[in-house]
Amino acid sequence: MSNVQTKSGLQIRQEFIDFFVETHSHANVVSSSLLPADDPTLLFANAGMNQFKPIFLGTETRDYTRAANTQKCIRAGGKHNDLEDVGRDCYHHTFFEMLGNWSFGDYFKTEAIDWAWDLLTNVWGLAPERLHATYFEGDAGDGLEADTEARDLWRKYLPDARIHTGNKKDNFWEMGETGPCGPCSEIHYDATEDLSGGPLVNADSPLVIEIWNLVFIQFNRDATGALEPLPAQHVDTGMGLERVTKIIQGKKSNYASDLFVPILEAIEELSGKTYGAQAADGADRYDVMDDDDLVDVAMRVIADHARTLTFGIADGILPGNAGRGAVLRAILRRAAGFGRQHLQIQGTFLHKLVGVIVEHFAGAFPELASRKEYVTGVILDEENAFAQTLDRGLQLLECQIEQHRTQGETTMSGETCFELHATFGFPFTLTKLIAEKAGLGVDEAGFDDAMQAHQAASRGEGDTFKAAQIIGLPPTDDSGKYAVTRLDTSESELLEARVLGWVIEGKFVTEGELTEGDEVAVILDATQFYGESGGQHGDRGTLLSPRGVFTVEDTKVAGQAVLHVGRMRHGTLAIGAAVRGQVCECRMDVMRNHTATHLLNYALREVLGEEIHQAGSVVECSRLRFDFTNNAAVTADQLAHVERIVNEIILANRAVETCVMDLDEAKQLPGVRAVFGEKYGQEVRVVSVAGGKVGEEIIEFCGGTHVGSTGGIGLFKIVSEESVAKGIRRIVAVTGNEAVKEIQLCDEILKSAAALLRVSPGDVPARIEALQVEIKKLKKRPTGGGASSLANEVSFETSAGKVVIARFGVMDPGAMRNQCDQLRQQGAAAVFLAAADEDAGKVMLIAMVSDETVKAAGFKAGDWVKHTAPVVGGGGGGKPTLAQAGGKQPEKLNDALDAAAAFAKEALA
Ligand code: SER
Repeated sequence: MSNVQTKSGLQIRQEFIDFFVETHSHANVVSSSLLPADDPTLLFANAGMNQFKPIFLGTETRDYTRAANTQKCIRAGGKHNDLEDVGRDCYHHTFFEMLGNWSFGDYFKTEAIDWAWDLLTNVWGLAPERLHATYFEGDAGDGLEADTEARDLWRKYLPDARIHTGNKKDNFWEMGETGPCGPCSEIHYDATEDLSGGPLVNADSPLVIEIWNLVFIQFNRDATGALEPLPAQHVDTGMGLERVTKIIQGKKSNYASDLFVPILEAIEELSGKTYGAQAADGADRYDVMDDDDLVDVAMRVIADHARTLTFGIADGILPGNAGRGAVLRAILRRAAGFGRQHLQIQGTFLHKLVGVIVEHFAGAFPELASRKEYVTGVILDEENAFAQTLDRGLQLLECQIEQHRTQGETTMSGETCFELHATFGFPFTLTKLIAEKAGLGVDEAGFDDAMQAHQAASRGEGDTFKAAQIIGLPPTDDSGKYAVTRLDTSESELLEARVLGWVIEGKFVTEGELTEGDEVAVILDATQFYGESGGQHGDRGTLLSPRGVFTVEDTKVAGQAVLHVGRMRHGTLAIGAAVRGQVCECRMDVMRNHTATHLLNYALREVLGEEIHQAGSVVECSRLRFDFTNNAAVTADQLAHVERIVNEIILANRAVETCVMDLDEAKQLPGVRAVFGEKYGQEVRVVSVAGGKVGEEIIEFCGGTHVGSTGGIGLFKIVSEESVAKGIRRIVAVTGNEAVKEIQLCDEILKSAAALLRVSPGDVPARIEALQVEIKKLKKRPTGGGASSLANEVSFETSAGKVVIARFGVMDPGAMRNQCDQLRQQGAAAVFLAAADEDAGKVMLIAMVSDETVKAAGFKAGDWVKHTAPVVGGGGGGKPTLAQAGGKQPEKLNDALDAAAAFAKEALA
C-alpha cells in the first residue's frame, strides 16, 4: 500500500468521482446545499440521497439514471445525530463529505457490489483481507425476509466468516421517519493488527469501522409507518470521505488525515497548545488517542465544528433559536465552550478558522470562497453574543448557588438548570461543572424531563403537506401558468382541462364524484394555476365545470402534480369532467410583487454592495418580503435610494423576458443570480430585466410569474426594514394598488397627527421633539419631598403583617436598602422598592422581607424580585431576606410595582 499512502483527500475525492463518472457513465451531479430544498422533514442535508428523494418516490424524473458526487452532510439533530460522539472519538463528525453513487431504476445489487469491490481493492489497493460485509437479516415486524441475494453476491469476494448479518438498526436504511428506504449492505474495514476484527463489526470500535453503505432502495415508509413498495428499485451508496481517506493514508484517526491536520495546526497556533502532546517519540502526534486533559478532544471538537459552521453558514443556514438554527448555535457553543474550558483560549477564536477551511476546501466547493467574509462575520457576531450570554448566565448561576447555600440545599433543581439553558443559552455541562466546583449536585434527570417537556410543547410540526408523500400522483402540464399575463382573459382563452382525481386525507382517489362542501385537492391534466414554489404563493381561483363550481383556495405542488386545494362550492365534479380554470385576479398583484422582488435584489446590491446575498423571499398578492444578509441595519437614506432605483426601472418600463436554458450555459450569463438552497434541474428558467444601467441586465434563475414589462408594477414602496436573525435583514414592500394605499395611509396618519398637535404636517417632527423634552423635564422633577422620597406607594395588610411597595426617587442601592430598613423598623413585614434612571434606561428593584415572615410564611425576597424583574426586562435574585434585580425598561416600572403587589398579596393571603 505504500504507493497509495501519499494520496491526498482531494485526489481520493476525485478518483471516486472519476471511477463512476468516467468508467461507469454516471452523471456528476454537484452536492446540494446543506439547507434542504423543499423538504420540511429534514433539518440539514444528511445523506447524498436527499436531493434524489423525489426520483426514488417516482414524483420526478431527470435526464440521467446514474449519478455520483460528493455531498456535504451535517448529522446533528434529527434522526442521524452524532453530536455527542464528535471529538470524543476519532471517526464521527457533525459535518462530513459523503461520496455516493446512485442508480435510479437502472443497475441494482450486482453492479453496486462489484464496483464497490473493484474501487476499494483494485483502484485504491485496500487489502481484501481487511474487508468485511454485512447484509440485512430480515425483520418480522416489517414483514421483510433476509437479503440473501446480497449475501450471495458478497460470496464472490469474501469468505463466509467475513460476511455478517445485521439487524434493522444497522442494515435497513431510512432517511427519516418517512421516505424512501431499503435493506443495506455495509463494508467495514478491519484495522486490527492480527485481522481479528470480525466480532467488532458494528460494535462501535474504532478498530473496525463502517466505510461504505450500499443501500438498495425499494420501499417508501409512509406517515402511518407502513412500507409501500416503490415503482422501481434503486441504489443509493454513501462512503464517508474522511474515513476512507484515513484508511488510504494509513492513519488510525480521521483527524490525522490531510482533511483535518491543517485545521488542527491552526488551532494549535490559536491556543498555543500542542495536539497529541502525549504521543510516543517517533509517532505521528496527530494519530494518537491518549488524552488525559481533554486538550486533544477539544481540538477535535473545534476542528470538526468549525467545518460544520463554515459550510453550513456558507449555505445560508444561520445560528438561531429554533430548528436548524438552534442546532448550529449549539454546535458553535459546544466548540466555544471546549476552547475556553480546555484550551483556555481567551476571547473569540472560531471565526479565525474560516480562512484555513476555505483555503483547503474551496477547490471542491467554490461557494466557500465568495462567502468567506460573510461566514467569518456571522461566526464572530455569534461568538460575541455567546460571550455575553455566558457572563449573564454566570452571574445568575452564582446567585443561584448562593441561594442554594443559604437555604442549605445540596442539589440544584433540573428546572433551574433548564431555565439557565433555555433562557440564557447556558450549556448544561457548564452549569454542572460550575455547580460541582461549588459543592452542589445537579438534578440531571430533572433537567432531561424539563427539556423533554419543552420539546414536546414546541413540537408543532408545521403543516407538512401529506400529498408530498403520496407515490404515483399523475403529472400536470402546468406550462399554462405563464400564459396568465392579463386580467381581462376572456372566457374563450381559459384553458380547458380534465379532472384526473383528487387527494383526500392523504390518499389519491380516482373514482366517484365531489359534492357540495367536499374539501379536497383536485389534480387536473393541465392547469394555469401557479403552485406555491420558489417563495411565490399559490394561486387562488375557480374551477368551472358544466355541473359545478370548485373554489381553489390555494395551489400546491407535489412532485410533478399540481394540487388545486379547496372546496366544492356548488353542484358536483366527477373524474374525467372537463373544467375551465379561472385564476383569481390577485395573481396580477403577485406578478407585480415578484418582478419587483428581482428589482429590489438588484437595487440592494447597487446600494449596499455585491456581498449581500438573498436569504429568503416570499411573494404574495398583498406584499413582498425579502430577506438578505447584511451585518447592519439599512439606513433611511439607503432605503430611499433603493426605492428610487426600483421606481426608476419601473418608470423606464423595461421588458421582462424569460427563457429556458441549459443550467451550465445559464451559469455563464453575466451577473446571473441563483438562490441559496434552491434546487435546480439541468434545465433552468431564466428571467431577465433590462437593468438600471445601460447594457446591464438583471438576470435570475426563477420559475415564478412576472409582469411583461416593469411599468406594470406601477409603484414600489418599502414598508419596513428590520432584523430577523443575526446578520439577516428583512424588507417588506408593496407595489401597485397596495403601494398607493400605503402612501395614502401614511398621508392620513400624518394629517391627523398634525391636527392633534395643532401644527401643519411639516412641523410635526419639531413639535414632537419639543414635547419630548418637556416630558423628560417633568419626569425628572422629584416627586414630593426629595430624591429619596417614595412615590406611588401602596401598602396593605396581610396575614404576615404590613407590606409596603413604592417607587424610590433615585437609583441608589445603598439608599434604597436604608429606606427598606427604616420601613422594616417601623413595622413592615416586607418592603419592595423600585427606582429608575431614565437616561441610562435602567431599573433597580430591591426587596426586603423580615426573618419572621420568611420563616412563618415561606415568603422570600429572592422569589419576589425573580418574579417581578422580567416585567422590566431584567433578572436577579438573592437571599430570602434581601434580594435585588436590574432591568432595562424604565417605562414599565409601574407595571413592576403592580406585579410585586399582586405577588405578595397572593403569597401572603
Ligand atoms: N443513504 C445511505 C447513507 O446515508 C447511503 O448513501 O448511509
